[in-house]
Amino acid sequence: MFKWGILGAGKIAGKFAEDLKTVPGAELYAVASRDLAKAKEFSEENGFNKSYGNYEDLVKDDQVDIIYVATPHVFHFEHTILCLKNKKAVLCEKPFAMNISQVEEMIATAKENNVFLMEAMWTYFLPHYRYVLDLVKSKKYGVLIKLEADFGFTAPYLPEKRLYNKKLGGGSLMDIGIYPVFAALSLMGLPDKISANAKMCSTGVDENCAITFEYEGGKVAALSSTIVETTPTTAKLQFEKAVVHLRSRFHEPTSVLIIREGKEKEVTFEVKTRGYNYEAIHVQKMIEEGRIESTVMTFNKSRQLIRLLDSIREEIGLVY
Ligand SMILES: NC(=O)c1ccc[n+]([C@@H]2O[C@H](COP(=O)([O-])OP(=O)(O)OC[C@H]3O[C@@H](n4cnc5c(N)ncnc54)[C@H](OP(=O)(O)O)[C@@H]3O)[C@@H](O)[C@H]2O)c1
Repeated sequence: MFKWGILGAGKIAGKFAEDLKTVPGAELYAVASRDLAKAKEFSEENGFNKSYGNYEDLVKDDQVDIIYVATPHVFHFEHTILCLKNKKAVLCEKPFAMNISQVEEMIATAKENNVFLMEAMWTYFLPHYRYVLDLVKSKKYGVLIKLEADFGFTAPYLPEKRLYNKKLGGGSLMDIGIYPVFAALSLMGLPDKISANAKMCSTGVDENCAITFEYEGGKVAALSSTIVETTPTTAKLQFEKAVVHLRSRFHEPTSVLIIREGKEKEVTFEVKTRGYNYEAIHVQKMIEEGRIESTVMTFNKSRQLIRLLDSIREEIGLVY
């Protein structure tokens, strides 16, 4: 059994814990919150054994094997390093950190301490997404020429809260724009040219962001994110011989529609969870194999992803 610890008892931590219960070999062991009462409540709700009122006690617990870091983006660096230095394997929420230099330091720390580290880019492990990656790789429908992907929801304007607060790494790009950007990276590779535009809100973060990636041979990705409008949150892949739609919401378990020569085929996948179990199963497998780096969400993939986000931020003038 792998004893899991959760660092930060917020919204995503609850959803992750729910799926972790379905993972063979995973023991829901401990939860750490800055507030002990909150940790206890979370533990009771989700069936964890232990509760800690600070993060240090969790990372010092000898029994813990893997820690899931679920704090706001700006703390991923500090909390991941804290875990790694205490020899705990880490699955850290996306975005991995706020910039490439932080990501490099996290990777170096994992190597120095010989412990596993992975960015929780959960979409990469979902059945429908693996299916679409295979379509691209196999060139079944020819080359992927164009990708369109959006992610948008209406977040109430609460300037102190994570999504709008610059001190907490707010804005649409880092929180949800990362998914269309990751779709382009994983399906089309690194672009030759990046352009981006954003509308900033009064807290100084992007409320929406529109991005274009250009590739050799006229291939293109049109990507967008917003926290002030609910948009379809789909992905459309135009291949030479077919159009493939990842249904809403494309980053979580969903179905795939293939349109070829006027004929439609819907491909469905049986997923009984929210989908966070797939990344957790992968993490356990990697650790069982004695690895410190995922063979799927590799260090290089995380480096490429954060460099793309860094470049987009430069384009839109977003400095944290
Ligand atoms: N994979 C996904 O589908 C997905 C979905 C949503 C979010 N996320 C990612 O998960 C991370 C957390 O998002 P969330 O929506 O769960 O946020 P959240 O509900 O605000 O929870 C974040 C938790 O971080 C802890 N924290 C530590 N220092 C904090 C501070 N100064 N201010 C606020 N919270 C602080 C708090 O836990 P304690 O009070 O218990 O210490 C808080 O509950 C983000 O990086 C986000 O990108 C991923």
